[in-house]
Amino acid sequence: MKQALVAILSDGQFHSGEEIGAALGVSRAAVWKQLQKLEAMNIPFNSVKGKGYRLPEAVTLLDSNALFEYGFPQDVFTSTDIALSLDSTNNAMMQSAEGNIDERKICFAEMQTAGRGRRGRTWVSPFAQNLYFSVLWPFSQGIAAIQGLSLAVGLAVHRGLTELGVKDAGLKWPNDILADHQGVKCKLGGILIELTGDVSDACQVVVGVGLNLDVRIQDQAKIDQQAVGVKQLGVKADRNKIAATVVRHLVAVLEAFSLSGFAPLKDEWSRADAYRGQEARLILPSSEIHGRCAGVNEKGELALETERGVQWFNAGEVSLRLNDAK
Ligand code: BTN
Repeated sequence: MKQALVAILSDGQFHSGEEIGAALGVSRAAVWKQLQKLEAMNIPFNSVKGKGYRLPEAVTLLDSNALFEYGFPQDVFTSTDIALSLDSTNNAMMQSAEGNIDERKICFAEMQTAGRGRRGRTWVSPFAQNLYFSVLWPFSQGIAAIQGLSLAVGLAVHRGLTELGVKDAGLKWPNDILADHQGVKCKLGGILIELTGDVSDACQVVVGVGLNLDVRIQDQAKIDQQAVGVKQLGVKADRNKIAATVVRHLVAVLEAFSLSGFAPLKDEWSRADAYRGQEARLILPSSEIHGRCAGVNEKGELALETERGVQWFNAGEVSLRLNDAK
C-alpha cells in the first residue's frame, strides 16, 4: 500500500487524507498509518493542514509496467523488485543470494539509506532522482572468470547511455562512467561488484549500478568529486526508459561476458576510455603511482607508463585520478 500511496502523491499536488483513502479503498486512519511509515523511511513529503499531503515535487516513479513497455528484459530475471527505500540494493541482492545458485534477480530502489560506493565510500541516493539497482548473476567458474567484469559492466552502461542520446560519456578504469560537462570530467555513474559463494567454483556476483539522472546542488555538496546527471547533459528520457535501456544492455553484456570474458569487448572499451594518454595517479591502498594511462589488455588490466616502465594493474581496491584532480 505504501507504493500505491506514493504513486498518488507523485504528481507533486496536494491530496487530502479522505481523497487518498477513497482512492486506496481504506480509512483515513489507515492512510495516516501509511504516511507515518513513509516518514519513518525518510521519504520526503509535505503535510499541510487543510490541504493534505504531497511529495515536494512531481517525480516519475519506477514502475514495472512502464519498464516492460520500454523493453526491460523481464524474462531473464526470476524476480524484479522495485523498493521505495533500501539500505543498499547491493545488500539486498547479497542477502537474497543464499537461495538457488542459478537465479538471476534484479532490484531497484527509489532511495538508499546506506548506498555504498567503492573503497568504503557512500553513494548519495536521494529519493526518485537517480537510478540505483543491483543484479544478481551466476558465474560457474569462480573468481577467475570475472576478471574484467567491472569494465564490461561499464561498457554496458555506456552503450545504454549512447542509445539514449548521451554524448561525451566516457569510461574510467576500472568502472566509472564519466561525462564532460562544462569542460570538466564529471562522474555520471559508478559500479560496485561483489561476490558471494565459492570463489574457486560456482559463485554469484552482485552488480550494483548507480546512475546519476539529476544531480542537485545539495547533493553535489555531499559528493567528493564533480558529479553530473543525464538531465544536466540535456537528455530528457523517462526514468523507466533509462532503466530499461541500461538493463537491456547490461543483460546482453553479462550473457556475452559469461561465454567469452572481457577480450571481445576490449576494443570498444578502449574507444570509450576517457583517460587514455592522460597523466594520472593510481591510488593504491597504501601508496600512489604516477604515470601515463596506456589502455587496457584483454584481461581488463590497466597499463600505466611509469618512470620504471610499463606497469600493469588489476582492478582491486584502487582508484585512478587525473593529475590535476583531488
Ligand atoms: C562507485 O563508483 O564508487 C560505485 C558506486 C555504486 C553505487 C551503486 S547504487 C546501487 C548499488 N547499491 C549500492 O549500495 N551501491 C551500488
